[in-house]
Amino acid sequence: MKVSKKTFGVLSSGKKVHLYTLKAGDLKLSLSTLGATWTSLIVPSANGKDDIILGYSSFHGYMHNRYFGVTVGRYANRIGGGKFSIEGKEYNLTKNDGENTLHGGRMSFCKKVWTADAYEEKDGVFVRFELKSNDGDEGFPGNLWAAVSYGITKTNEIVIDYEAKVDVNCPVNLTNHAYFNLRGEGSGSDILSTELKLFSSAYLEVDEHLIPTGKLLSAENTPFDFKSPKPIGKDLNSKAPGNIKGYDHCFAVNGEPGKLRPFAEVYEPASGRYMKGFTTQPGVQFFSGNNIPQMQGKIGSNYGQYSGFCLETQHFPDSPNKPNFPSSIFGPNRDYNEKAVFAFDW
Ligand code: GAL
Repeated sequence: MKVSKKTFGVLSSGKKVHLYTLKAGDLKLSLSTLGATWTSLIVPSANGKDDIILGYSSFHGYMHNRYFGVTVGRYANRIGGGKFSIEGKEYNLTKNDGENTLHGGRMSFCKKVWTADAYEEKDGVFVRFELKSNDGDEGFPGNLWAAVSYGITKTNEIVIDYEAKVDVNCPVNLTNHAYFNLRGEGSGSDILSTELKLFSSAYLEVDEHLIPTGKLLSAENTPFDFKSPKPIGKDLNSKAPGNIKGYDHCFAVNGEPGKLRPFAEVYEPASGRYMKGFTTQPGVQFFSGNNIPQMQGKIGSNYGQYSGFCLETQHFPDSPNKPNFPSSIFGPNRDYNEKAVFAFDW
Protein backbone atom coordinates (compact mmCIF):
# COMPACT_ATOMS: atom_id res chain seq x y z
CA MET A 1 0.00 0.00 0.00
CA LYS A 2 1.25 3.47 -0.79
CA VAL A 3 0.23 7.13 -0.45
CA SER A 4 1.78 10.10 -2.22
CA LYS A 5 0.94 13.78 -2.07
CA LYS A 6 1.85 16.58 -4.47
CA THR A 7 0.84 20.15 -5.25
CA PHE A 8 -1.97 20.00 -7.83
CA GLY A 9 -2.25 23.76 -8.45
CA VAL A 10 -2.77 27.17 -6.91
CA LEU A 11 -6.08 29.07 -6.96
CA SER A 12 -6.25 32.78 -7.84
CA SER A 13 -6.75 33.40 -4.09
CA GLY A 14 -3.24 31.98 -3.56
CA LYS A 15 -4.60 28.84 -1.90
CA LYS A 16 -2.67 25.67 -2.66
CA VAL A 17 -4.52 22.54 -3.78
CA HIS A 18 -3.03 19.09 -3.20
CA LEU A 19 -3.48 15.82 -5.05
CA TYR A 20 -3.27 12.54 -3.13
CA THR A 21 -2.66 9.23 -4.86
CA LEU A 22 -3.43 5.99 -3.02
CA LYS A 23 -2.49 2.48 -4.07
CA ALA A 24 -3.80 -0.75 -2.56
CA GLY A 25 -4.75 -4.10 -4.05
CA ASP A 26 -4.86 -3.61 -7.83
CA LEU A 27 -6.35 -0.10 -7.79
CA LYS A 28 -4.90 3.41 -7.86
CA LEU A 29 -7.09 6.30 -6.66
CA SER A 30 -6.43 10.05 -6.90
CA LEU A 31 -8.19 12.74 -4.88
CA SER A 32 -7.87 16.52 -4.87
CA THR A 33 -8.39 18.82 -1.90
CA LEU A 34 -10.40 21.22 -4.13
CA GLY A 35 -13.96 19.98 -3.54
CA ALA A 36 -12.61 16.73 -1.96
CA THR A 37 -12.74 15.47 -5.54
CA TRP A 38 -12.28 11.94 -6.80
CA THR A 39 -10.13 12.74 -9.88
CA SER A 40 -9.18 9.28 -11.10
CA LEU A 41 -9.40 5.54 -10.49
CA ILE A 42 -7.17 3.16 -12.42
CA VAL A 43 -8.75 -0.31 -12.69
CA PRO A 44 -7.26 -3.35 -14.48
CA SER A 45 -9.13 -5.49 -17.03
CA ALA A 46 -8.23 -8.41 -19.30
CA ASN A 47 -7.24 -5.80 -21.92
CA GLY A 48 -5.15 -3.55 -19.65
CA LYS A 49 -5.56 -0.73 -17.16
CA ASP A 50 -7.83 2.28 -17.62
CA ASP A 51 -8.93 5.34 -15.73
CA ILE A 52 -12.69 4.83 -15.28
CA ILE A 53 -13.53 8.29 -13.81
CA LEU A 54 -14.33 11.29 -16.03
CA GLY A 55 -12.31 14.42 -15.35
CA TYR A 56 -10.05 17.10 -16.78
CA SER A 57 -6.56 16.96 -18.26
CA SER A 58 -5.22 19.71 -15.98
CA PHE A 59 -5.75 21.55 -12.71
CA HIS A 60 -7.24 24.46 -14.67
CA GLY A 61 -10.20 22.27 -15.69
CA TYR A 62 -10.95 21.45 -12.05
CA MET A 63 -11.17 25.20 -11.30
CA HIS A 64 -14.31 25.27 -13.50
CA ASN A 65 -15.54 21.80 -12.62
CA ARG A 66 -19.00 20.63 -13.78
CA TYR A 67 -19.27 18.47 -10.64
CA PHE A 68 -16.93 15.75 -12.00
CA GLY A 69 -16.01 13.59 -8.98
CA VAL A 70 -16.73 16.25 -6.37
CA THR A 71 -18.01 15.88 -2.83
CA VAL A 72 -21.39 17.62 -2.75
CA GLY A 73 -22.83 19.49 0.27
CA ARG A 74 -24.47 20.86 2.35
CA TYR A 75 -27.35 19.43 0.36
CA ALA A 76 -26.79 17.23 -2.68
CA ASN A 77 -29.43 17.41 -5.43
CA ARG A 78 -32.29 19.92 -5.51
CA ILE A 79 -34.22 21.90 -2.93
CA GLY A 80 -37.42 23.21 -4.53
CA GLY A 81 -37.89 26.99 -4.55
CA GLY A 82 -34.48 27.33 -2.84
CA LYS A 83 -36.15 27.43 0.56
CA PHE A 84 -37.39 25.35 3.47
CA SER A 85 -38.73 25.91 6.98
CA ILE A 86 -37.62 24.40 10.26
CA GLU A 87 -39.59 24.94 13.45
CA GLY A 88 -41.60 27.71 11.75
CA LYS A 89 -38.60 29.70 10.51
CA GLU A 90 -38.04 30.02 6.76
CA TYR A 91 -34.53 29.79 5.31
CA ASN A 92 -33.71 31.10 1.83
CA LEU A 93 -30.82 29.56 -0.07
CA THR A 94 -28.80 30.71 -3.06
CA LYS A 95 -30.74 29.67 -6.16
CA ASN A 96 -28.42 28.29 -8.82
CA ASP A 97 -30.75 26.09 -10.92
CA GLY A 98 -33.55 28.38 -12.10
CA GLU A 99 -35.78 28.93 -9.06
CA ASN A 100 -34.21 25.98 -7.19
CA THR A 101 -31.01 25.20 -5.31
CA LEU A 102 -28.77 22.50 -6.77
CA HIS A 103 -25.93 20.72 -4.96
CA GLY A 104 -25.75 23.17 -2.04
CA GLY A 105 -25.75 26.47 -3.94
CA ARG A 106 -23.20 28.52 -5.85
CA MET A 107 -20.10 28.41 -3.61
CA SER A 108 -20.89 25.05 -2.06
CA PHE A 109 -18.60 22.34 -0.69
CA CYS A 110 -17.38 21.28 -4.14
CA LYS A 111 -15.81 24.73 -4.69
CA LYS A 112 -13.95 24.81 -1.35
CA VAL A 113 -10.47 23.66 -0.44
CA TRP A 114 -10.72 20.98 2.25
CA THR A 115 -7.95 20.12 4.72
CA ALA A 116 -6.69 16.58 4.27
CA ASP A 117 -4.71 13.87 6.05
CA ALA A 118 -3.74 10.47 4.74
CA TYR A 119 -3.73 7.43 7.02
CA GLU A 120 -3.22 3.72 6.73
CA GLU A 121 -5.19 0.91 8.37
CA LYS A 122 -4.51 -2.79 8.18
CA ASP A 123 -6.93 -3.31 5.30
CA GLY A 124 -6.44 -0.11 3.28
CA VAL A 125 -5.23 3.46 2.73
CA PHE A 126 -7.44 6.51 3.20
CA VAL A 127 -7.54 10.30 3.01
CA ARG A 128 -9.75 12.15 5.48
CA PHE A 129 -10.99 15.54 4.23
CA GLU A 130 -12.43 18.12 6.60
CA LEU A 131 -14.34 21.36 6.07
CA LYS A 132 -16.00 23.92 8.33
CA SER A 133 -19.06 25.66 6.90
CA ASN A 134 -20.15 28.78 8.79
CA ASP A 135 -23.64 29.71 9.93
CA GLY A 136 -25.46 31.25 6.94
CA ASP A 137 -23.27 29.56 4.29
CA GLU A 138 -25.37 29.68 1.06
CA GLY A 139 -28.35 30.43 3.36
CA PHE A 140 -28.13 27.26 5.51
CA PRO A 141 -28.43 27.67 9.30
CA GLY A 142 -25.80 26.71 11.86
CA ASN A 143 -22.10 25.96 11.93
CA LEU A 144 -21.35 22.66 10.28
CA TRP A 145 -18.24 20.48 10.48
CA ALA A 146 -17.96 17.93 7.66
CA ALA A 147 -15.46 15.08 7.38
CA VAL A 148 -15.38 12.72 4.43
CA SER A 149 -12.85 9.93 4.10
CA TYR A 150 -12.11 8.15 0.84
CA GLY A 151 -9.94 5.07 0.66
CA ILE A 152 -9.07 1.85 -1.12
CA THR A 153 -8.91 -1.53 0.53
CA LYS A 154 -6.64 -4.44 -0.34
CA THR A 155 -9.75 -6.18 -1.71
CA ASN A 156 -10.34 -3.52 -4.40
CA GLU A 157 -13.10 -1.50 -2.80
CA ILE A 158 -13.48 2.26 -2.67
CA VAL A 159 -14.88 3.13 0.74
CA ILE A 160 -16.41 6.56 1.44
CA ASP A 161 -17.40 7.61 4.97
CA TYR A 162 -19.41 10.80 5.36
CA GLU A 163 -19.71 12.56 8.73
CA ALA A 164 -21.15 15.91 9.75
CA LYS A 165 -22.01 17.73 12.95
CA VAL A 166 -24.15 20.85 12.97
CA ASP A 167 -24.98 23.04 15.96
CA VAL A 168 -28.63 23.81 15.00
CA ASN A 169 -31.14 21.75 13.02
CA CYS A 170 -30.27 21.88 9.31
CA PRO A 171 -30.75 19.70 6.22
CA VAL A 172 -27.59 17.72 5.35
CA ASN A 173 -27.05 15.50 2.33
CA LEU A 174 -23.50 14.62 1.29
CA THR A 175 -22.57 12.56 -1.75
CA ASN A 176 -19.91 11.99 -4.34
CA HIS A 177 -20.54 13.00 -7.94
CA ALA A 178 -18.13 10.71 -9.85
CA TYR A 179 -19.01 10.03 -13.49
CA PHE A 180 -18.06 6.43 -14.31
CA ASN A 181 -17.21 4.91 -17.67
CA LEU A 182 -16.17 1.34 -16.94
CA ARG A 183 -14.71 0.97 -20.42
CA GLY A 184 -12.30 3.80 -19.63
CA GLU A 185 -12.81 7.56 -19.67
CA GLY A 186 -10.52 7.76 -22.70
CA SER A 187 -12.25 4.99 -24.66
CA GLY A 188 -14.38 7.38 -26.70
CA SER A 189 -17.36 5.09 -26.00
CA ASP A 190 -20.58 6.07 -24.32
CA ILE A 191 -22.14 4.16 -21.44
CA LEU A 192 -25.33 3.07 -23.25
CA SER A 193 -24.31 -0.59 -23.52
CA THR A 194 -23.15 -0.75 -19.88
CA GLU A 195 -25.48 -3.11 -17.99
CA LEU A 196 -27.07 -1.84 -14.81
CA LYS A 197 -28.97 -3.56 -12.06
CA LEU A 198 -30.59 -1.41 -9.34
CA PHE A 199 -31.81 -2.74 -6.01
CA SER A 200 -34.83 -0.43 -6.18
CA SER A 201 -38.49 -1.24 -6.66
CA ALA A 202 -39.53 2.42 -6.69
CA TYR A 203 -38.30 5.80 -7.87
CA LEU A 204 -39.31 9.38 -7.10
CA GLU A 205 -41.71 11.10 -9.46
CA VAL A 206 -40.38 14.55 -10.50
CA ASP A 207 -41.80 17.63 -12.20
CA GLU A 208 -40.26 19.23 -15.31
CA HIS A 209 -37.64 20.98 -13.13
CA LEU A 210 -36.65 17.65 -11.55
CA ILE A 211 -38.25 18.53 -8.21
CA PRO A 212 -39.92 15.50 -6.60
CA THR A 213 -43.70 15.65 -6.42
CA GLY A 214 -43.57 13.66 -3.17
CA LYS A 215 -44.83 10.46 -4.83
CA LEU A 216 -42.89 7.22 -5.11
CA LEU A 217 -43.78 5.27 -8.25
CA SER A 218 -43.34 1.56 -8.83
CA ALA A 219 -40.48 0.87 -11.26
CA GLU A 220 -41.86 -2.50 -12.27
CA ASN A 221 -42.32 -3.00 -16.03
CA THR A 222 -41.43 0.63 -16.77
CA PRO A 223 -38.22 2.13 -18.26
CA PHE A 224 -37.13 2.54 -14.61
CA ASP A 225 -37.18 -1.21 -13.97
CA PHE A 226 -33.54 -2.26 -13.45
CA LYS A 227 -34.42 -5.26 -11.26
CA SER A 228 -32.66 -7.49 -13.79
CA PRO A 229 -29.52 -6.09 -15.43
CA LYS A 230 -30.18 -4.22 -18.69
CA PRO A 231 -28.13 -1.90 -20.91
CA ILE A 232 -28.53 1.72 -19.75
CA GLY A 233 -29.48 2.67 -23.34
CA LYS A 234 -32.24 0.07 -23.72
CA ASP A 235 -35.21 2.15 -22.53
CA LEU A 236 -33.47 5.51 -22.27
CA ASN A 237 -35.42 7.19 -25.05
CA SER A 238 -38.81 5.81 -24.16
CA LYS A 239 -41.31 8.52 -23.44
CA ALA A 240 -42.01 7.66 -19.84
CA PRO A 241 -43.29 10.52 -17.67
CA GLY A 242 -40.40 12.47 -16.23
CA ASN A 243 -37.86 10.78 -18.51
CA ILE A 244 -35.84 13.85 -19.42
CA LYS A 245 -33.22 13.19 -22.18
CA GLY A 246 -32.28 10.06 -20.26
CA TYR A 247 -32.20 9.07 -16.60
CA ASP A 248 -31.86 11.73 -13.92
CA HIS A 249 -33.94 10.21 -11.15
CA CYS A 250 -33.65 9.27 -7.51
CA PHE A 251 -34.34 5.59 -6.84
CA ALA A 252 -35.40 4.42 -3.38
CA VAL A 253 -32.90 1.76 -2.34
CA ASN A 254 -34.63 -1.42 -1.13
CA GLY A 255 -34.09 -2.28 2.54
CA GLU A 256 -33.61 -0.23 5.65
CA PRO A 257 -31.89 3.18 5.48
CA GLY A 258 -29.00 3.33 7.96
CA LYS A 259 -27.92 -0.23 7.08
CA LEU A 260 -25.21 -0.86 4.50
CA ARG A 261 -26.98 -2.69 1.67
CA PRO A 262 -26.47 -3.15 -2.08
CA PHE A 263 -27.89 -0.50 -4.38
CA ALA A 264 -26.38 -1.33 -7.79
CA GLU A 265 -24.39 -3.81 -9.86
CA VAL A 266 -22.81 -2.62 -13.06
CA TYR A 267 -21.17 -4.72 -15.79
CA GLU A 268 -19.40 -3.36 -18.83
CA PRO A 269 -19.26 -6.13 -21.48
CA ALA A 270 -16.40 -4.81 -23.65
CA SER A 271 -13.91 -4.51 -20.77
CA GLY A 272 -15.38 -7.19 -18.50
CA ARG A 273 -15.33 -4.78 -15.53
CA TYR A 274 -17.85 -5.08 -12.70
CA MET A 275 -18.75 -2.52 -10.06
CA LYS A 276 -21.00 -3.19 -7.07
CA GLY A 277 -22.32 -0.35 -4.93
CA PHE A 278 -23.44 -0.39 -1.29
CA THR A 279 -24.96 2.45 0.72
CA THR A 280 -26.56 3.33 4.05
CA GLN A 281 -28.60 6.13 2.46
CA PRO A 282 -32.30 6.02 1.51
CA GLY A 283 -31.71 6.73 -2.19
CA VAL A 284 -29.44 6.88 -5.19
CA GLN A 285 -29.62 9.43 -8.00
CA PHE A 286 -28.99 7.61 -11.25
CA PHE A 287 -27.88 10.17 -13.83
CA SER A 288 -27.01 8.97 -17.35
CA GLY A 289 -24.79 11.95 -18.17
CA ASN A 290 -27.53 13.65 -20.21
CA ASN A 291 -25.95 17.11 -20.21
CA ILE A 292 -22.23 16.34 -20.64
CA PRO A 293 -21.19 18.80 -23.38
CA GLN A 294 -18.75 18.10 -26.21
CA MET A 295 -15.52 18.72 -24.34
CA GLN A 296 -12.01 17.48 -23.91
CA GLY A 297 -11.54 15.07 -21.04
CA LYS A 298 -8.22 13.75 -19.80
CA ILE A 299 -5.31 13.19 -22.15
CA GLY A 300 -6.47 12.21 -25.64
CA SER A 301 -10.15 11.83 -24.85
CA ASN A 302 -13.33 13.63 -25.92
CA TYR A 303 -16.59 13.53 -23.99
CA GLY A 304 -20.18 14.18 -24.95
CA GLN A 305 -23.71 13.24 -23.89
CA TYR A 306 -23.77 9.81 -22.13
CA SER A 307 -19.95 9.56 -21.82
CA GLY A 308 -20.35 8.71 -18.15
CA PHE A 309 -23.02 7.83 -15.58
CA CYS A 310 -23.36 8.82 -11.92
CA LEU A 311 -24.74 6.82 -9.01
CA GLU A 312 -25.02 9.43 -6.25
CA THR A 313 -26.01 7.83 -2.94
CA GLN A 314 -28.09 10.30 -0.98
CA HIS A 315 -31.13 11.35 1.01
CA PHE A 316 -34.08 12.04 -1.27
CA PRO A 317 -33.98 15.38 -3.11
CA ASP A 318 -36.14 18.15 -1.64
CA SER A 319 -36.63 16.14 1.59
CA PRO A 320 -36.68 19.37 3.67
CA ASN A 321 -39.97 20.23 1.90
CA LYS A 322 -41.40 16.70 1.79
CA PRO A 323 -42.53 15.57 5.25
CA ASN A 324 -43.28 12.04 3.94
CA PHE A 325 -39.62 11.47 2.90
CA PRO A 326 -37.03 10.12 5.40
CA SER A 327 -35.85 13.10 7.45
CA SER A 328 -32.67 14.80 6.24
CA ILE A 329 -32.61 17.21 9.20
CA PHE A 330 -29.51 16.83 11.39
CA GLY A 331 -28.52 18.88 14.40
CA PRO A 332 -27.42 18.94 18.04
CA ASN A 333 -29.28 15.67 18.70
CA ARG A 334 -28.53 13.92 15.44
CA ASP A 335 -25.08 13.64 13.83
CA TYR A 336 -24.78 12.73 10.17
CA ASN A 337 -23.00 9.40 9.45
CA GLU A 338 -23.33 7.65 6.11
CA LYS A 339 -21.24 5.22 4.11
CA ALA A 340 -20.84 4.18 0.48
CA VAL A 341 -18.74 1.34 -0.97
CA PHE A 342 -17.88 0.72 -4.62
CA ALA A 343 -16.34 -2.74 -5.14
CA PHE A 344 -14.50 -3.60 -8.37
CA ASP A 345 -13.78 -6.82 -10.23
CA TRP A 346 -12.79 -7.69 -13.80
C1 GAL B 1 -26.82 15.61 -11.09
C2 GAL B 1 -28.23 16.10 -11.28
C3 GAL B 1 -28.38 16.53 -12.72
C4 GAL B 1 -27.33 17.56 -13.11
C5 GAL B 1 -25.97 17.05 -12.70
C6 GAL B 1 -24.88 18.08 -12.86
O1 GAL B 1 -26.64 15.23 -9.76
O2 GAL B 1 -29.13 15.08 -10.97
O3 GAL B 1 -29.68 17.07 -12.94
O4 GAL B 1 -27.61 18.77 -12.47
O5 GAL B 1 -25.94 16.67 -11.37
O6 GAL B 1 -24.71 18.48 -14.17
